[in-house]
Amino acid sequence: MAHPAIILAIESSCDESAIAIYHKNLGVLSNKVFSQIPLHQVYGGVVPELAARDHLKRFPLLLKQALSESNLTLNDIDAIAYTAGPGLIGALMTGSIYAKSLAYSLKIPAIAIHHLEGHLLSPLLNQDKPNYPFLALLVSGGHTQLIAVNKVGDYKLLGQTLDDAVGEAFDKTAKMLGLPYPGGAHLADLAEKGNPNTYQLTKPMINRKGLDFSFSGLKTQVRLLIEQHKNQTNFSQIYADIAASFEKTIADTLSIKCKRAFDQTGFKDLVVAGGVSANKKLRTQLIDLAKKYNKRVFFPDLELCTDNALMIAFAASHRINQADKKLTVTIKSRWNLSDLNQITD
Ligand code: KG4
Ligand code: ZN
Repeated sequence: MAHPAIILAIESSCDESAIAIYHKNLGVLSNKVFSQIPLHQVYGGVVPELAARDHLKRFPLLLKQALSESNLTLNDIDAIAYTAGPGLIGALMTGSIYAKSLAYSLKIPAIAIHHLEGHLLSPLLNQDKPNYPFLALLVSGGHTQLIAVNKVGDYKLLGQTLDDAVGEAFDKTAKMLGLPYPGGAHLADLAEKGNPNTYQLTKPMINRKGLDFSFSGLKTQVRLLIEQHKNQTNFSQIYADIAASFEKTIADTLSIKCKRAFDQTGFKDLVVAGGVSANKKLRTQLIDLAKKYNKRVFFPDLELCTDNALMIAFAASHRINQADKKLTVTIKSRWNLSDLNQITD
């Protein structure tokens, strides 16, 4: 089909309900995100059933806001993209059925998008873009992967976490330090008040060959530290030092693996995406690494690090050949990036 000029996208894989409108030539027209964090915070984590029900409540208003911000009506939309996986099954179901029904009623095509492809391509929305082939470090609440990106749709998994994702390690550690869910950004704030060299935590799996990760042991190290210091009175400084040491260990570990991936592939550019790519310490260390070895590193804009629909619309603009007008919906809670088909246009 001819390249549609205007794509509306719906993202609902976890606890953000989001709708964005992207124009082929003009770029972003609207990017609305409604975070369900307050809804789940009392439970200390995402409650899937509540997430799914709340997405459905939010879509109509987000749609109205996105259209009015773009000065458009539904009839101006050429295609509708939606996140088809990976993610929470009920949450994915609400977004994809909403998207498919909307597309069907408007007689326009719909495009199923892989959530991680959205994250991975998001730095390409910037002026300054990486050149193919490049490395991608995906660091979110559910995934930690190093990927060789040969071109759009041609992804080779180089390494991944064998247990907890980095964001999950941040969230679980933050919880132990008494911080609210999701704890990544709160832990980063606390870390700024601490000394990262106070505690020497073991950097997981750096002495093992390859590019896999493991982060579940780190949280055990932190739990032991908290127990050791539980009778001390200056615990707010101790907690800040623990947070800073934890954050540095994560940034060091990821930097070591990125250096190894540069060496292994000979690629020049690295893209870092997913919620944890908002982390300042990680950004600084990877920028330093790139400078030192004459490489380049690219991050999404801060508001595009965590879940949003703009990245889904943008990925869809590369996957127009997959658009269809069928009413059937296929979603996948688990889905490997390397199973995506290559884009030839
Ligand atoms: O990509 P994302 O929004 O959702 C998933 O697809 O998982 O990532 C959310 C994760 C959460 O674990 C959150 O704590 C973490 O990203 N995160 C951070 C920061 N901002 C968000 N972790 C560390 N430092 C941050 N500044
Ligand atoms: Zn995500």
